[in-house]
Amino acid sequence: MENRSAIAIDGPVASGKTTVGRNLAHRLNYRFLDTGGMYRAVTVVALDERMDLSDQHAISKLTEEMPIEIVASSVGDRLMVNNVDVTDRLRERAVDQNVSHVAAIQGVRTALVRRQKNIGERGSIVMVGRDIGTVVLPDARIKVYLDASVEVRANRRFLEEQNSIGKLTYQDILDDLIKRDKIDSKRAVAPLIPADDAVILDTKDLTIEQVVDLILTELRSR
Ligand code: DC
Repeated sequence: MENRSAIAIDGPVASGKTTVGRNLAHRLNYRFLDTGGMYRAVTVVALDERMDLSDQHAISKLTEEMPIEIVASSVGDRLMVNNVDVTDRLRERAVDQNVSHVAAIQGVRTALVRRQKNIGERGSIVMVGRDIGTVVLPDARIKVYLDASVEVRANRRFLEEQNSIGKLTYQDILDDLIKRDKIDSKRAVAPLIPADDAVILDTKDLTIEQVVDLILTELRSR
């Protein structure tokens, strides 16, 4: 049965899906879930525990047993693992570099998808990720796939990083995105592809507000 109040947004790294999803949820007064944060939380813990990331069995077991909690707060949602707030660590460079490998493990995906489906069942939610329209919420009211060329996305990331310490060059970012796109779209389990019935939006010349407005217009026309 169609989940009338679930919205799925998928797309590659830096396609704008998190910002778009958050704004859209705000406009609709819906909940928001960035599923990438869950894969990142598993990576944070696996790195902290110095686990071998190629040990699929161990990483899957870690994920199944990991208590991940999303807590709303005045500074946005916080992601808690074992009651420890890991939110500020999710974007660390080591996590960026390793999360695609962790997300390619079948057991990790099974454990996290189960939780995401549970969260989605209650409806009134905007969920963003890579497999939301295809696997997590196949009955979503609307499925959006945000796209942009890898150069456009690398340039956005580069501009965002200008104020951060240990700045990366444009070329570093471009190389990193190409590598991560490849792992996300070529993996055997739930690769990044638009759902057959997804609305595909190229965000190259669009602002966040314009993308949100386009999705709202599409939603109202249904
Ligand atoms: O969106 P992000 O950069 O935070 O995602 C981090 C990693 O997790 C990336 O390699 C893609 C993967 N991911 C996934 O496989 N499925 C999801 N639903 C969300 C993220």
